[in-house]
Amino acid sequence: MQQSRSPKDHTISPRRSSFDLRAALARDWHGDSAFRTAWFNALSMMVPYGERFFIDSVNEFLDEIDDPRLTSEVHAFLVQEANHLRQHRAVNKLLCDVRGYDMQAIEGPILRRAEWTRRKVPAIRRLAGTAANEHLTAVLVADMLRHDDLFRDADPGMAELWYWHGVEEIEHKSVAFDVYQAAGGSLKDRRLVQIFGTIFFLSGTFRILCLMLKHDGKLWSLHEWASGFKFLFVKPGLLRRAFVPYFRFLRKDFHPWQDDDRYLIDEWEAKRQSV
Ligand SMILES: [Fe+2]
Ligand SMILES: [Fe+2]
Repeated sequence: MQQSRSPKDHTISPRRSSFDLRAALARDWHGDSAFRTAWFNALSMMVPYGERFFIDSVNEFLDEIDDPRLTSEVHAFLVQEANHLRQHRAVNKLLCDVRGYDMQAIEGPILRRAEWTRRKVPAIRRLAGTAANEHLTAVLVADMLRHDDLFRDADPGMAELWYWHGVEEIEHKSVAFDVYQAAGGSLKDRRLVQIFGTIFFLSGTFRILCLMLKHDGKLWSLHEWASGFKFLFVKPGLLRRAFVPYFRFLRKDFHPWQDDDRYLIDEWEAKRQSV
């Protein structure tokens, strides 16, 4: 039975990676901007908990998969997400060490929310949340790889961490969605959970961003918030640009590969080999 709906010639290949980011993490690595640095650092803080949630959610539905192709895609997905979890956890620990951020204050509410979700939310809705978050992630990273304006002023090593993660997110973007469809997930749940999942994700990220800015003595800096607002919503406007593709997930006939953006992976691979 065919359950994978990725392009016929598509493969998912986990890549080896290593990053030496100590010097970059010790300073405002994104164009000397405290807000932009804290934005990406806060996103990185969210990654290990998100990846743990995605891995567990998909693992609960392995019995629903009859398609050998989807089985092998799930395995590659699990390896990629486990690598992302490990890399970002190491980066986050290093970041707290070199900048003095309080890891417990950062992760306490995330861990409590994760535990609440695990106990109170049915497994099929957690899987819907995974599919929805994978879509949001795929939209954001495709935008990041398509334009060179998000990391133009950033430390190259930090940019490479996000490009590496982004490329693998594009590669496995349909896996959780196809497992959700195979498990008989409903359109209603998919739509409902997308909205709540995004609220959780963005509110969590902004909470950590505020903790970091507070620690750095920049929480009440009008300049930082004005330039941060511009970065997110005006120019380059990464959240503004994500708006329309994000809502495609609500369409009844949506599938992640309706937007075949694998050329972004090829371009990144070609650039990496030429260095
Ligand atoms: Fe990931
Ligand atoms: Fe992912």
